[in-house]
Amino acid sequence: MRTAIYPGSFDPVTLGHWDLIQRATKLVDRLVVAVLHNPAKTSAFSVEDRVAMLKELVAPLPQVEVTSFHGLLVDFAKSQNAVVIVRGVRAFSDFEYEFQMALMNRKLAPDLETVFLMPKEKYSAVSSRFVREIGSMGGNLAELVPETLRERISARLAKG
Ligand code: PNS
Repeated sequence: MRTAIYPGSFDPVTLGHWDLIQRATKLVDRLVVAVLHNPAKTSAFSVEDRVAMLKELVAPLPQVEVTSFHGLLVDFAKSQNAVVIVRGVRAFSDFEYEFQMALMNRKLAPDLETVFLMPKEKYSAVSSRFVREIGSMGGNLAELVPETLRERISARLAKG
């Protein structure tokens, strides 16, 4: 049973994240989507809300679980018996940070591999940051977030 962790802030989940989740499920037996509890970062959506939205989204995929975690990713990965960390790389600009994080995680846990996946090209400019900005100004989030969550995300962001 090969388990992978797909960690992130998911503030909120985008179509790029969803694309990546579907790609990752083809590679492993079990995928744990893990939302970081990060008290140092202010977020638009509570961790509970982010987990709930992800759970709703992955409901049709029985091999995917959604949870949140505190602390080091490598410790959480170990607790889940994961052998792989999955991260998305949209463009070259993502690469430097992702590369450094992967090497640092490798120092901390040499047996845990980081695997980068590319989302569909049409999602290469989609990010949670842009979703938050566009949503808070009343812009249309079609093509940016999953259809089933769009109203909920728009309403929350419009409230400020
Ligand atoms: O979606 P994000 O914000 O780019 O995800 C970043 C995340 C959650 C993957 C990263 O910040 C993380 O793993 N944090 C947990 C703390 C940790 O393990 N830090 C050391 C990383 S080298």
